[in-house]
Amino acid sequence: MRKIIIAGNWKLNKTIAEAVELVSEIKSQADGVTNVDIVVCPVFTALSEVNKIVAGSNVGLGAQDLYWEDSGAFTGEVSVPLLKDAGCQYVIIGHSERRQYFGETNETVNSKVKAALAGGLIPIVCVGENLEQREADKAFDVVKDHVENSLKGFSADEMKKIIVAYEPVWAIGTGKTASPAQAQEIHNFIRSLLKEMHNDEVAESMRIQYGGSVKPENAKELMGQKDIDGALVGGAALKAESFLGIIKNC
Ligand code: 13P
Repeated sequence: MRKIIIAGNWKLNKTIAEAVELVSEIKSQADGVTNVDIVVCPVFTALSEVNKIVAGSNVGLGAQDLYWEDSGAFTGEVSVPLLKDAGCQYVIIGHSERRQYFGETNETVNSKVKAALAGGLIPIVCVGENLEQREADKAFDVVKDHVENSLKGFSADEMKKIIVAYEPVWAIGTGKTASPAQAQEIHNFIRSLLKEMHNDEVAESMRIQYGGSVKPENAKELMGQKDIDGALVGGAALKAESFLGIIKNC
């Protein structure tokens, strides 16, 4: 049985004080929840203060990106050892906004996943097509390209540590959620790719989150799909009430 994982991607939002306030509320209301893994991913500058609140609790901490070198002349970058030093257990890699605005490619995603695994962080690897690609009937091709190339070269044991997040770009921040059937179709496809790349055991043990306008109202039906093992939540993760609503509804 795969355990549901609900992660909040706070994107470029919240000062340190606001982040601390939000996570304090999430932590107190999520107290006692053991059947769902809960993760918050604040901006880099808030990680360390948020960690002081969640350390030792059932709320995990994640970053939104990383660089694959540990240290050196790489101005502006943050590495795996530094993220661990700030308290992170997870890291989002290859989010569509990074692919779209910051030149992230399958190759850079692959290097980042490699670094995260080597350093002991759990990567949440994002894949998904945009509207133009979906309308041109290319969704499966794009997802296949993202999955095969971003996750190239890992052992079965490494793969089992990776979480995949399917985020159709057309559903991010638009209020347009993929229907549960549309999402399940791609999740099932991703699992079949993982099986082809490795084997049944790897494919069945890996968790695949859905992301794109997840809210308390649609969480239950989405999470009820056979191959959907959680959610990567943007907008609705910025308020304790809606983030907790999603957790309670699955
Ligand atoms: P929204 O939930 O705001 O659509 O964002 C989804 C997302 O990009 C999470 O990473």
